[in-house]
Amino acid sequence: MQVRKAVLPVAGWGTRFLPATKAMPKEMFPIIDKPVIQFIVEECLSANIDNIIFVTGRHKRPIEHHFDINTDLEKHLEQCGKTELLKNIMEISRLINPIYIRQKEQLGLGHAVLVAEPVVGYEPFIVALGDIIVKDERNVLEKMIEVYNRFGKSVIAVFEVDTKDIPKYGIIDGRHIERDIYIIDDLVEKPKPEEAPSNLAIVGRYLFTPKIFEKLKITPPGKGGEIQLTDAIKLLLEDEAVYAIKIDAKVYDTGTPIGYIQTVLDFALQREDLRDELIAYLRQLISNNILQTDTV
Ligand code: UTP
Repeated sequence: MQVRKAVLPVAGWGTRFLPATKAMPKEMFPIIDKPVIQFIVEECLSANIDNIIFVTGRHKRPIEHHFDINTDLEKHLEQCGKTELLKNIMEISRLINPIYIRQKEQLGLGHAVLVAEPVVGYEPFIVALGDIIVKDERNVLEKMIEVYNRFGKSVIAVFEVDTKDIPKYGIIDGRHIERDIYIIDDLVEKPKPEEAPSNLAIVGRYLFTPKIFEKLKITPPGKGGEIQLTDAIKLLLEDEAVYAIKIDAKVYDTGTPIGYIQTVLDFALQREDLRDELIAYLRQLISNNILQTDTV
């Protein structure tokens, strides 16, 4: 069956960014001039997925407004002759078919995915985390869909992490079957480096068969009383093969302050209109010794 839908869970509290996230979703934080969530929507669109299911919660309204058509703003930009901006604004709201579904209580990522079941129905679907930007030469979702089309089973994107970073991620225990494809035997959430079965970390991009819903329904609350997606995948492994595809991408976790700062910095350094001034500023910081830790 063709993959046609993507679920974007965006209902989390964003506690690591409080007080900024009290009234503003972290998924709407700007990476210079584009909100994080728009990068993820664009990633879905370029993999030909335009049915986007946002799992939202209280204080997440700005996401809905962002993908609406704003005729007043469009008229204003047209009158000012700001055609590039106008094109940009018009495109994103017209290209997607957004569906919003509420997660009434923030009971974890697994629960957020389960909430989407009535809209997804009995078909394979993508899950793309709303605060993770993945930058690869070729669209990662497209690669995952290719693996799904070959094997007809769930696929999880993974990337290699440094040993010191292993405790930050869900790590797979997998057998290499060919090129960048693995078959998963087990998953370990945030292991100590010496106990980790590999250095292949889960990125925040999943493609599931609908069987995951069955498993989410019987997944008991795990860490922090939340229904963990990883626990449901472990249950899925008992019934079905689950594949992993290793990607050679840059992964930005914009949901943490340091990850967010790194994302903005990297994207700004890639922008012609900002790059030179930013480099000059960084050079100035270096020459003023501001970047030496003992002077901070
Ligand atoms: P995170 O764990 O990064 O988000 O979940 P969080 O819970 O908002 O973060 P902190 O720890 O409080 O800072 C990854 C994605 O899953 C969504 C989040 O919005 C985020 O995009 N999520 C998480 C939900 O939709 N519902 C939940 O119950 C939990």
